[in-house]
Amino acid sequence: MQREHWKNQLGFVFATVGSAVGLGNIWRFSYMAYSHGGGAFLIPYIIALFSAGIPLLILEFAIGQERIGSAPLAYAKIRKNWEWVGWWSVTFVMFGIVLYYTVIIAWCLDFFIFSFDLSWGRDPNGFFFHKFLAVTRLPSEIGEVRPHIVMALLAVWVINWGIVYRGVRRGIEYINKIFMPLLFILTAVLVFWSISLNGSMMGIKAYIEPDFSKLSDIRVWIDAYSQIFFTLSLGFGIMIAYASYLPRVADITKDAILTAVINSGYSLFAGIAVFSVLGFMAKAQGKAISEVVSQSIGLAFVAYPKAISLIPGGRFFGAIFFLCLVVAGLSSSISIIEAFVSAMIDKFGFRRGAIITLLSVLGFLCSIIFTTQAGLLWIDIVDHFITQYGLVVVGIAECILVAWFSDIKLLRRHINSISSIKLGGYWNAAIKYFIPFVLGSILIGDLYTELRQAYGGYSWVSIILIGWGWLFLTIIIALVFASLPWGTDYAKTLEKDNKTV
Ligand code: PHE
Repeated sequence: MQREHWKNQLGFVFATVGSAVGLGNIWRFSYMAYSHGGGAFLIPYIIALFSAGIPLLILEFAIGQERIGSAPLAYAKIRKNWEWVGWWSVTFVMFGIVLYYTVIIAWCLDFFIFSFDLSWGRDPNGFFFHKFLAVTRLPSEIGEVRPHIVMALLAVWVINWGIVYRGVRRGIEYINKIFMPLLFILTAVLVFWSISLNGSMMGIKAYIEPDFSKLSDIRVWIDAYSQIFFTLSLGFGIMIAYASYLPRVADITKDAILTAVINSGYSLFAGIAVFSVLGFMAKAQGKAISEVVSQSIGLAFVAYPKAISLIPGGRFFGAIFFLCLVVAGLSSSISIIEAFVSAMIDKFGFRRGAIITLLSVLGFLCSIIFTTQAGLLWIDIVDHFITQYGLVVVGIAECILVAWFSDIKLLRRHINSISSIKLGGYWNAAIKYFIPFVLGSILIGDLYTELRQAYGGYSWVSIILIGWGWLFLTIIIALVFASLPWGTDYAKTLEKDNKTV
């Protein structure tokens, strides 16, 4: 079977940036920067980017490109019995993250439409939680499916399906070459408009004014590292799959640095639009920034709509804001689906059309649980467990696999032979010792807090059934896929490749 390739290097970089730039860049980064010392947060953030983010991104690119395979195949080509780790990463994104990620994109699509007539009225908070989501008090009170959300969700899955169906070059590369420039232009419009608002400087000041005292707090450092792993879509098998479509010669280090720099630059830039608008609102209402700011979901679906209503012509910019979220979200969700699809094709030899159609139907149906009245609570729990543990464990595993169970020096030589920016021995050290140490510390710290107190004040029953249960289920699915026989002739290459490592 002929493996597809990107048309050109630009197409590959657009696709990886498309995956990296997502909802997290817009609502997660800006709030984190604000609450963790403003401009001073850039210090741990940039250190995390260079000491762990870029080295791991280079590793994932190299694994995919050199082993020519999606995560399960690439891992199996290094060590056969590590195949399940690859399956686990693509399973927890496909049967975890993307199921609720698409629901949040659906909310954004609904809010894009709501912007035109400011449907949220005078009380965006009440509108979002009580009218739109009609959220219940407990995860076990499922209530009913919210029709608006399901309709938008269907549209999101149809778009995902349509793009991934067309394959790497005609689907993913083509759409990212439209989506990314579009996203950057829309964001620029938003930023320039928002800094012209009265009070914007007050918001920007709160966003970037450095408070160096925060740097002594270990939590700030942990959050910086977690944000870097999440924002670069690392540990999900995504970058491995995308890199597997690179040609034999590709500038891996340069592409990784480009992806990382564009992604972080976008986060910083988008934060200006968010905080200028908050500054305007604070000034208009005579309040302090700290009284109007909120994080993630509250920021996008409550604070931002509130501000839009106050601004003349705001509805137009509100629509642009939500469109940005939709575009950023879609380019990330297709990358998740592709990571799984390519794994299925590599292992079982399925036709792309058949497997993506099946997965989209299944994905849509499984997402429905998150469109119920308890959806928000389920998203909160599942997101916490999967991003907190799945990503971290896989990140550690891939470093150990490459640095301890195969010859990492050989891999570095390969990278250097095809890349323009050469890696020094520090890269080996980062993969072998530093990144596993950082991820390991995050894991231990998180487990410690987890066991002392049930996450988010939910009951232990919900935490165990929904959180741990979901995580556990993805492991079982991964083990099943790993144990099934290969349906492609890649199987023959496994043993041989193992010996050459
Ligand atoms: N990198 C994306 C963001 O910052 C998140 C993401 C997670 C994308 C998982 C794909 C897969 O929002």
